[in-house]
Parts: sequence; structure tokens; C-alpha cells
Amino acid sequence: MRERENRLIAIENRFSPITEQYRNVRTSIQFAASSGRPMKLLLVTSTEQEEGKTTLASNLAVVMAETNTKVLLIDGDLRRATAGKIFNLRTGTVAGLSTLLSNVGSSLEEAIQRTQIKNLDFLPAGPIPSNPSELLNSNRLNEIFQQVEEKYDFIIVDSPPLLVVTDAQIFSSKVDGVVLVVRENRTKRNNLIKCKTLLERSKARLIGVVYNGAKSLSAGNYNYYKY
Ligand SMILES: Nc1ncnc2c1ncn2[C@@H]1O[C@H](COP(=O)(O)OP(=O)(O)O)[C@@H](O)[C@H]1O
Ligand SMILES: [Mg+2]
Repeated sequence: MRERENRLIAIENRFSPITEQYRNVRTSIQFAASSGRPMKLLLVTSTEQEEGKTTLASNLAVVMAETNTKVLLIDGDLRRATAGKIFNLRTGTVAGLSTLLSNVGSSLEEAIQRTQIKNLDFLPAGPIPSNPSELLNSNRLNEIFQQVEEKYDFIIVDSPPLLVVTDAQIFSSKVDGVVLVVRENRTKRNNLIKCKTLLERSKARLIGVVYNGAKSLSAGNYNYYKY
């Protein structure tokens, strides 16, 4: 319980300095959007696990929804789905991205859940599939993205680490922009360089690096740097 409170600080404490940092990240992304190119689908990723991707994606979704835009958070970590838990939503056995990808008949409307926050909906990862990368590397994912882009103003995709499995790289080639989370005292410099190469290879648009400070609350301490 306590952990959940800390991790969704953008709801628990709308006026905390950390929530304000999430709003700064939001502003930077909105700037990237004003450059003329579309910036509707955003991927949040990092080099490895436990760097603060899910925490950033969730809190960013909350502060984005504050601006009266319709926001969808997608749990794109089909192997280690945790975003739903942060919002206290049903996950695991319910329909989600994996069922939409594997079963052409299943409907997006049924899979999407409302969160406790106005303007913020959530698409769970769904049950863990046996072949996540193959499922994601399909035209079906493009169709799903098209559908959600019609319904929402802004979509944030939480994802697995770039260097562990290919899933995030697949996402990166299909979204409008990528934000990399770097965690202080944890993210290795040469891994960051490897990520940059992978993103270039998939022709992804890296719009910023968000620095997650080490000595903060479990909610993280995020500062945005334009890439
Ligand atoms: N700056 C930070 N200081 C302390 N704990 C953090 C920080 N950032 C994230 N955490 C904690 O680390 C764990 C992993 O964070 P999470 O956002 O799930 O990372 P990822 O999605 O990259 O695996 C969580 O328990 C989270 O609360
Ligand atoms: Mg995560």
C-alpha cells in the first residue's frame, strides 16, 4: 500500500516537488509535439530493469491527463507487467495487449480499463504470451496503434528494457517518440550508447532522456534533458 502511494505520487500528492518534475517532463514532451511532427504515441524505455520506466510512464500519464487531454497508458511489458498494479487495476488474466495481438476477434473496448483518474484509461499487458516479440513484430500492432490514436489524444507505452529483449526496439519503430530513463548510479554509460545505436537502427525518434535521481523517494526524482 505504502509503495503504491509513493509510486503514484502524481495522484497522492498533486503539489509535491516530484509531481512538479513530472509536469516539467510533460512540458518538454509538449514542446517536442509543437515542432510540427506528430507526437501522439510515446514510448518509455531504458537500458535495463528497475530503472524507473513504469514509475515514470504511470506518473506522466497522470499529469498528462490533468491537461484535459484523453490519455491512454499501455502496459507494453508483456513479460513483467506492473503498470496495472500501480493503479490497483486488474491485470494478469484479463484481456490486454497480448490477447488483442494474438486474437484478431477480441475487442479493444473490452480490454481497456478506466482508471480512478479523469481522462486516463489503461490497456493492460494481458496474460504472458509464449512469443512476445513475434506477437509485437506484426502488422496487428500497427492496427491497434491506429485504433487507439483515433480514440485518444496521447498514448504512453510502458515497455521492457531495450537491452534485454527486442520488444522495446520493435515498439520504438512504431511510435512517434522515445523517452529513455536513466537511473543515477545504475544505468551504465556503455549500455546507453548501445541503446542509442539500437534506436538509430530502428529509425526511432529519441526525444529526450529523463534522469532518475538515486536518493529520492521510491517515486523517483525525474529531470528531463532534451536529447
Ligand atoms: N529514484 C528512485 N529512488 C528509489 N527507488 C526508485 C527510484 N526510481 C524507481 N524506484 C523503485 O525501483 C523499482 C523499479 O521501478 P520501476 O519504475 O518499476 O522500474 P522499471 O519499470 O524500469 O523496471 C520500484 O520499486 C520503484 O519504486
Ligand atoms: Mg517496468
